[in-house]
Amino acid sequence: MIRRRLSTERARPGRFRRRRSISSAAVNRERSGSLESGLDLHLDWSGRPDSSTLAEALRAAIRDGRLAAGSRVPSTRTLAHDLGIARGTVTRAYAQLGTEGFLLSRQGAPTTVAERLRSGERPDPPAPRPTGRAPRWDFRPGRPNLSAFPRKDWLAASRRVLRAMPADELDYGDPQGPLALREALTEYLRRARAVHTTPDRLVVCNGYSEALSLISRVLRARGDSSIDFEDPSLPHFRDIAAEDGMTVRGVPVDDGGIDVSALRSPAVVVTPAHQFPLGVTMRAQRRAELIRRAKADGVLVVEDDYDGEFRFDRKPVGSLQGMAPDAVIYAGTASKTLAPALRIAWLALPARLVKPVRAMRTHGRFGPLFDQLALGELLRSGAYDQHVRRSRAVYRARREQLLHGLEGLRAGHRRYPAGISAGLHLTLRLDPDGPDEQQVLARARARGVELDVLGPWWVRPGDHPAGVVIGYAAPAEHAFRPALAALLDTLDP
Ligand SMILES: Cc1ncc(COP(=O)(O)O)c(C=O)c1O
Repeated sequence: MIRRRLSTERARPGRFRRRRSISSAAVNRERSGSLESGLDLHLDWSGRPDSSTLAEALRAAIRDGRLAAGSRVPSTRTLAHDLGIARGTVTRAYAQLGTEGFLLSRQGAPTTVAERLRSGERPDPPAPRPTGRAPRWDFRPGRPNLSAFPRKDWLAASRRVLRAMPADELDYGDPQGPLALREALTEYLRRARAVHTTPDRLVVCNGYSEALSLISRVLRARGDSSIDFEDPSLPHFRDIAAEDGMTVRGVPVDDGGIDVSALRSPAVVVTPAHQFPLGVTMRAQRRAELIRRAKADGVLVVEDDYDGEFRFDRKPVGSLQGMAPDAVIYAGTASKTLAPALRIAWLALPARLVKPVRAMRTHGRFGPLFDQLALGELLRSGAYDQHVRRSRAVYRARREQLLHGLEGLRAGHRRYPAGISAGLHLTLRLDPDGPDEQQVLARARARGVELDVLGPWWVRPGDHPAGVVIGYAAPAEHAFRPALAALLDTLDP
């Protein structure tokens, strides 16, 4: 059991005070509203320093009164600093406790322990969604329409591949993935995403998650210790970099994409075509500035082009990588165009990184070969393009229906769609006077609707706008109408 003593700081909104420890008398002043004091807090936790362990330690502190009902909890930054853990871990623990009713967070106000809690009292956590069972109406972002997976084409491609495949292809294979797929990808990426690459610079990965892990380990091996991510971005991917030894830094995103002037690390992960989750596209000037930083300062840019195929307004932008193939790593995935279960993604690397990435992929950790070859065949036959074009038309129509439905919500509960006409998700800013993120989530769950909120996705502390992230691609074709009705009902209290 590790016993950690925390001295936490208190801040007036907008300005931070110096760290200090204080006596229990000062804690009492704190509870009565003074913002001047610090707070000593004993937190007992053992095992892995992850968000669920931390959440349990905080629950214990609330239950036994060390954190009193109504009192402010340390800022995520302070707690992360004091514990020596990633801020994202604290943010996720707080989000979890918010969902369970232990903590209250309101926009523009510090997070506090819920008033109704008394020592020893534990609120009923919201019923977790039974694992393995899909929600009734699935609007979680990141999922394509799985019911539209092109089974016939996939089956036909798999048959052709298996029939023609020479026996020696069943050996351990190339750590960069089968040449046939890399050749097909080279042609497709040039044509569809303006990516300049060659088969020998492509690496086929087990999803973008593995791709990011490979990059992080290569960076670590060359002596880099930190990596910038867009703020907000998916914690899951930031965690991968952190688990591979990188310190993760958040860089703000505005209507023009990431703030390039705020980059601090030797590498940065960006989603320039369609920022995830805010949905904005990176302005031309910022793209040029990022490339300039990459070339002049050696900042390694990782371009996560997770949904670049789905732009609906006839203004597609090519990849950043096409502007500087030797300075940008391009990452693409089949998770949005086909299905996440395939676990197939690809990296187009600057020449100098091919060898180090290959070196990280020893021990036969690459596969699944048959699916990779089937994807290559799907690309070559044109069936992949057809499927993407069909899906694009469906997702465009869904997005329009969703926006139309949102316009019809009752006055006084307006939400603000942000971002360009693209992709598989829409992020809405919640009206500050309306229900907060946790209330929207609870309301959604009660109606069988699953969606996501922005809260846990921020990296830096501070007052961020509350928002919900709606993935409109997942519901099956026949279910979209009733699913949309349930979603709109959720958003219209
Ligand atoms: C921002 C972003 N990048 C990349 C991916 C693809 O990840 P993977 O290939 O591991 O499924 C996703 C999938 O949800 C995503 O949301």
